[in-house]
Amino acid sequence: MKSLAIIGSQWGDEGKGKITDLLGLKCDVVVRYQGGNNAGHTIIVGDKKIVLHLIPSGILHDHCTSVVGHGVVFDPEAFNTELATVEKSGINVTPERLRISGNCSVITFYNKLLDGQREAKGPVKIGTTGKGIGPAYEDKISRKGIKLKDLLDYDLLLEKLKSNLIEKESLFKNLYNCDYPSAEEEAKRLFELGKSVAPFVCDTFSYLDQCRQENKKILFEGAQGVLLDIDYGSYPFVTSSNTSVGGVFTGAGLPGGMIEEVLGITKAYTTRVGEGPFPTELFNDVGEFIQTKGGEFGATTGRKRRCGWLDIPLLKYAVKSSNLTSIALTKLDVLSGMDELKVCTGYKYEGRELDCSYPGIDLSKVEPVYKDMKPFADDFKGEQSPELKEYISFIEEEIGIPVGIIAYGPERSEITFLKDYFNN
Ligand code: GDP
Ligand code: IMO
Ligand code: MG
Repeated sequence: MKSLAIIGSQWGDEGKGKITDLLGLKCDVVVRYQGGNNAGHTIIVGDKKIVLHLIPSGILHDHCTSVVGHGVVFDPEAFNTELATVEKSGINVTPERLRISGNCSVITFYNKLLDGQREAKGPVKIGTTGKGIGPAYEDKISRKGIKLKDLLDYDLLLEKLKSNLIEKESLFKNLYNCDYPSAEEEAKRLFELGKSVAPFVCDTFSYLDQCRQENKKILFEGAQGVLLDIDYGSYPFVTSSNTSVGGVFTGAGLPGGMIEEVLGITKAYTTRVGEGPFPTELFNDVGEFIQTKGGEFGATTGRKRRCGWLDIPLLKYAVKSSNLTSIALTKLDVLSGMDELKVCTGYKYEGRELDCSYPGIDLSKVEPVYKDMKPFADDFKGEQSPELKEYISFIEEEIGIPVGIIAYGPERSEITFLKDYFNN
């Protein structure tokens, strides 16, 4: 297998970083293609914890080239901070090993300001990460965006920022009543930042095309999860990119049909950060137990993650909408030893019973239908207990694709590969 996409199958934070890191051992190139530094992908190596937001999780392996494709929204200031952290932990980052598309859309100060003002003063709070993601994608789609390559030409950058500011100025002055930097100040800031990013900027489309011709093994590292997709997700409580598999084709610049395996990373239960409907959310001490035992705090914002039982209708939807071919089931250790174990197998919705979600379904109006499973109490050192086997095979039967990986701890060693990725 030459190409594999990692897709979050829920509301993000399923353990994509850990799985990307481990599969990175077997591949040549790791590509981020959507989202930005709203992502927080955690990798634990011994007593070191590394959280990557913008740099692909392949960076930890010397043999891997990391690529940031043009579908990513790029905050150069956040990049510099992350680069310094990564280098401090002993990783050598060279322009050979990290290649960033000059066509990435830049997250400007105005984008971050607008994100913050809307969240603080707007009528609908999404619970964003506050990183300016939505406004940066808005600029891109409205054709007013600043591209990373623009940072290398001061006069062009200033001209673009001036035209970009015309409408925003009216919002900052009249609607939000907040201070904002002049186009000249922002141009200076971005131009300076551009100098440190410049060595890494290249034509990633041609680079990836060449990799494909050389039969290199490529892993596409998705950020967020299917339920946060701008089109497939629980709109408007979503992020602003295509987090489902479609994002790979446009965001990395890969022709359709070029992905052989789509691996859905799936937490053995469900979590969500930010606002929005969550059918299986637990508001009792069971939810609190999972939150505490699972260490469920956002890797980017530190917010407590909301917790609930595994939601199979949503998972079936993720399988269909991203053409998942197998899943990695993570954090099974968190459920081990619990007195009760439930999975949601369907919804009651508008007088009907559904077993699979679909775009536009109002998740705030569904009533989950649960099945009681036999709790398991495995230590994951020896044979799987019959109860754990049943939990896994029940999920496989319901969603119709195999569980290819199980994970039962944050460490690199706490994982079992049931399927052989990249070797066949
Ligand atoms: P991502 O955004 O999908 O990469 O996931 P995050 O890094 O935001 O959150 C997943 C968290 O769970 C991280 O703290 C990981 O170290 C941790 N983790 C990953 N897999 C497992 C697992 O199987 N068990 C436990 N207990 N923790 C895990
Ligand atoms: P990873 O890649 C979980 C959520 C935010 C908010 C919504 C919109 O680590 O799984 P945004 O800042 O993107 O405009 O926020 O999306 N969100 C995530 N939740 N994991 C993530 O990334 C997320 N990235 C964004 O909490 O609800
Ligand atoms: Mg995360």
